[in-house]
Amino acid sequence: MEKQVKVLVEQCLSALDALPTELKAASAAIAEIKVKYLGKSGSLTALLRSMRDLPADERPAFGALVNDAQDRLKAAIDGAEAVLDAKILAERLSGEKVDITLPGKDKTPGTLHPITLVANEVQEIFLNLGFELSEGPEIETDNYNFQMLNIPSEHAARDMQDTFFVTDSIVLRTHTSPNQARIMEKKQPPIKMICPGRTYRSDDDATHSPIFHQIEGLVVDKRVTMSDLKGTLDLFCKTMFSPETKTRLRPSYFPFTEPSVEVDMSCSSCGGSGCGLCKGTGWIEILGAGIVNPKVLENCGIDSSVYGGFAFGMGIERIAMIKYGIPDIRLFFENDVRFLRQFKG
Ligand code: PHE
Repeated sequence: MEKQVKVLVEQCLSALDALPTELKAASAAIAEIKVKYLGKSGSLTALLRSMRDLPADERPAFGALVNDAQDRLKAAIDGAEAVLDAKILAERLSGEKVDITLPGKDKTPGTLHPITLVANEVQEIFLNLGFELSEGPEIETDNYNFQMLNIPSEHAARDMQDTFFVTDSIVLRTHTSPNQARIMEKKQPPIKMICPGRTYRSDDDATHSPIFHQIEGLVVDKRVTMSDLKGTLDLFCKTMFSPETKTRLRPSYFPFTEPSVEVDMSCSSCGGSGCGLCKGTGWIEILGAGIVNPKVLENCGIDSSVYGGFAFGMGIERIAMIKYGIPDIRLFFENDVRFLRQFKG
């Protein structure tokens, strides 16, 4: 029986020596060895049970022998398990290793759209001059878009504004001017406001887009004159473009201003000597403006014998195209990031 114990111990130890190299298989093999030698119906346990066949005086020595063998095998199995665990951990760590010398994944931050950038810049100039910011609806009534602004139905001036109709009396606003009426109806002078927003006209070529943006300006107070208008817009152009910029007023026509003007500025590209951008004239038209027509003041409940005002409206795309030398308005709406990325705040 003693010999049997010795053989079992040797068998078990050599099985532990000959574990498979593949780690999962080795782990399974160890579990099997554990059951085979130390388990409830394992070989050593069976030997211990057979002790009762021995004469009583031999039992203590045999018991000690089996216990000792059990301890040795347990220690050997624990040792093999520890070695295996270390190998498994090492393999996992090397598999999950992060190479900190690799360059990180590039996250390109977005940029503001050039129209937003330019609109912000224009707004800031006027806010610094004490103008207040206001907003109005993009879907507008015929009344505010036209009639309150002295453009009655059938008026020839409606032709200037290629209108998208929602119904017979509701339109997509063709300009930001309806906000003049909306503000004046609500508030008595002094009024000094700008209103930026999206506008719509059925027009589509390199310099016109069916969706575009305008900023409206309105000042109403006592003794507002054309020179206030000229001074304000001259300061705007000098701040927006360069201190050398000159401006001039040309007579024009809008039903809601009288007199009406177009404001030109000296060409930002050639400085006035004539180039492709200004078509050789040295001047670029940048906005429409005028003295608020007394009829519009009266339509809104403001006494035109006491108050007067000036108004202006400029296209943001146009300002941006001049400022950045952009030849085609459609670039603003195609959302090609190679174009958009060039404009950083
Ligand atoms: N609303 C006019 C346009 O869109 C511009 C304008 C605004 C003219 C205010 C005069 C006064 O063409």
